[in-house]
Amino acid sequence: MSWYRETFFPWVEARFSRSLGRYKQRLLGTCSGEVLEIGFGTGLSLPHYPASVSRLSAIEPNPGMRKHADLGSVSFDVRLEQGVAEALPFAEASFDNVVSLLTLCSVQDLQKTIQEIQRVLRPGGQFFFLEHTAQSRGVTLGLQRAIQPLWGKIACGCHIDRETVGSLKMAGFDLRQLESIGYSGFPNILAPLYLGIALRG
Ligand SMILES: C[S@@+](CC[C@H](N)C(=O)[O-])C[C@H]1O[C@@H](n2cnc3c(N)ncnc32)[C@H](O)[C@@H]1O
Repeated sequence: MSWYRETFFPWVEARFSRSLGRYKQRLLGTCSGEVLEIGFGTGLSLPHYPASVSRLSAIEPNPGMRKHADLGSVSFDVRLEQGVAEALPFAEASFDNVVSLLTLCSVQDLQKTIQEIQRVLRPGGQFFFLEHTAQSRGVTLGLQRAIQPLWGKIACGCHIDRETVGSLKMAGFDLRQLESIGYSGFPNILAPLYLGIALRG
């Protein structure tokens, strides 16, 4: 299955995951200083970072994803490393902002990842996210739960039944901005999607 995970899936991601570009642009507009992006994927976020970013550190576990990223296309320094969000290779309070774009759905351990984000953010630092989450109730939530085992295999560990926003609140993040962008062209089982900015608790 490594061909699927490291060659085919990154190829699909690099070509077909551009649809949320205008939301990424809006979300990342106020990022600044030392920024960390978790789950960098094929680097589709890069054109959306503003010039106020001084350096972007990024981690991505899948080597097949990393090789698609064009790191020379921006004016600021980019450091891309292999790693997982559950064990970030950075000292505490290292970053002004942490960014997750459709990655909290894919990490193996959501609670550990949230703890790590809080650890590496400086006091007053902000977490920027664009994530799809579980429906709050109803038939689609049942469907999300029913097909999760199969979906997780097809989409390399993605969870469609995660209550991501609730988990951020429970962990003490102060949600300064939260916007539901509904389905945004995604199928019902991959929605709703949220854009948010949260202050480290
Ligand atoms: C749906 S893709 C999104 C990629 C990119 N953020 C984007 O918006 O195009 C999810 C990404 O999370 C990465 N990922 C999976 N598990 C991870 C983990 N434990 N820590 C960090 N990233 C992870 C995947 O390899 C993949 O690149």
